[in-house]
Amino acid sequence: MLSVAYLDVAYENAMVLHGISLEVEHGQMVFVAGRNGAGKTTLFKTIAGFLKPRSGSVFFEGMSIAGLPPEKVALLGIRYIFQDKRVFSNLTVRENLELAAYPVKENMKDAVDKVLQIYPKMEQFLSLKAGSLSGGQRQILLIGRALIGKPKLLLIDEPTEGLAAGTINDVLNVLSLMRGKVSMVIVEQNLSVVGMLADKVYMVKEGKIMKEMTDKAEINDKTAMESYL
Ligand SMILES: Nc1ncnc2c1ncn2[C@@H]1O[C@H](COP(=O)(O)OP(=O)(O)OP(=O)(O)O)[C@@H](O)[C@H]1O
Ligand SMILES: [Mg+2]
Repeated sequence: MLSVAYLDVAYENAMVLHGISLEVEHGQMVFVAGRNGAGKTTLFKTIAGFLKPRSGSVFFEGMSIAGLPPEKVALLGIRYIFQDKRVFSNLTVRENLELAAYPVKENMKDAVDKVLQIYPKMEQFLSLKAGSLSGGQRQILLIGRALIGKPKLLLIDEPTEGLAAGTINDVLNVLSLMRGKVSMVIVEQNLSVVGMLADKVYMVKEGKIMKEMTDKAEINDKTAMESYL
């Protein structure tokens, strides 16, 4: 459903991505792993329309989307969940969901149900300020919010980064529950998380794909994966 080919991306004169190609099939959970500064977020920003590639192509469901503005990309069903885990802290959890439901004309009951299906505990937080949630719960709120409307592909940038060990499990559980319901590309540096969930992994180093892995045994071999970082 997503096909990226020979993507070159630069900030001013600094080339950051060099000839990146990747494929995501319908329903897959694809991971992109790589060290800090490898270009993972740049790749997501380009797919989501925040950056224009120097060259190369991005096709989504057969349509060329490279260079489309973010709002157009979003309308096609691609949701980008930023790395910064920012919610509207002074609004309640319910209000955070309302802000996502309103523009896509989804009724609030359906919007709330989507979140409760992946994380029933959120019910007790609906009237609380989103700023009072733990890091993991905030990440789950952002994922739940991205499910509002009719998303086809989620781009999730480092969902477990900076989370306490206990809440990482909540996030992993949520991601597992979403498997097969929506296609996902997930940037993740924690290779144990990658091993648990990935259908396919792209190892990125200095803006290049060093290795693509689909073999389960290979994906579970952390030492082998680390050699491509
Ligand atoms: N707005 C920008 N202007 C100039 N250079 C940038 C900009 N954003 C990122 N870069 C540079 O591009 C490179 C890739 O950054 P990017 O944020 O894509 O990496 P990343 O793999 O997501 O890293 P991290 O794991 O730290 O989030 C880095 O060298 C970074 O310094
Ligand atoms: Mg990043």
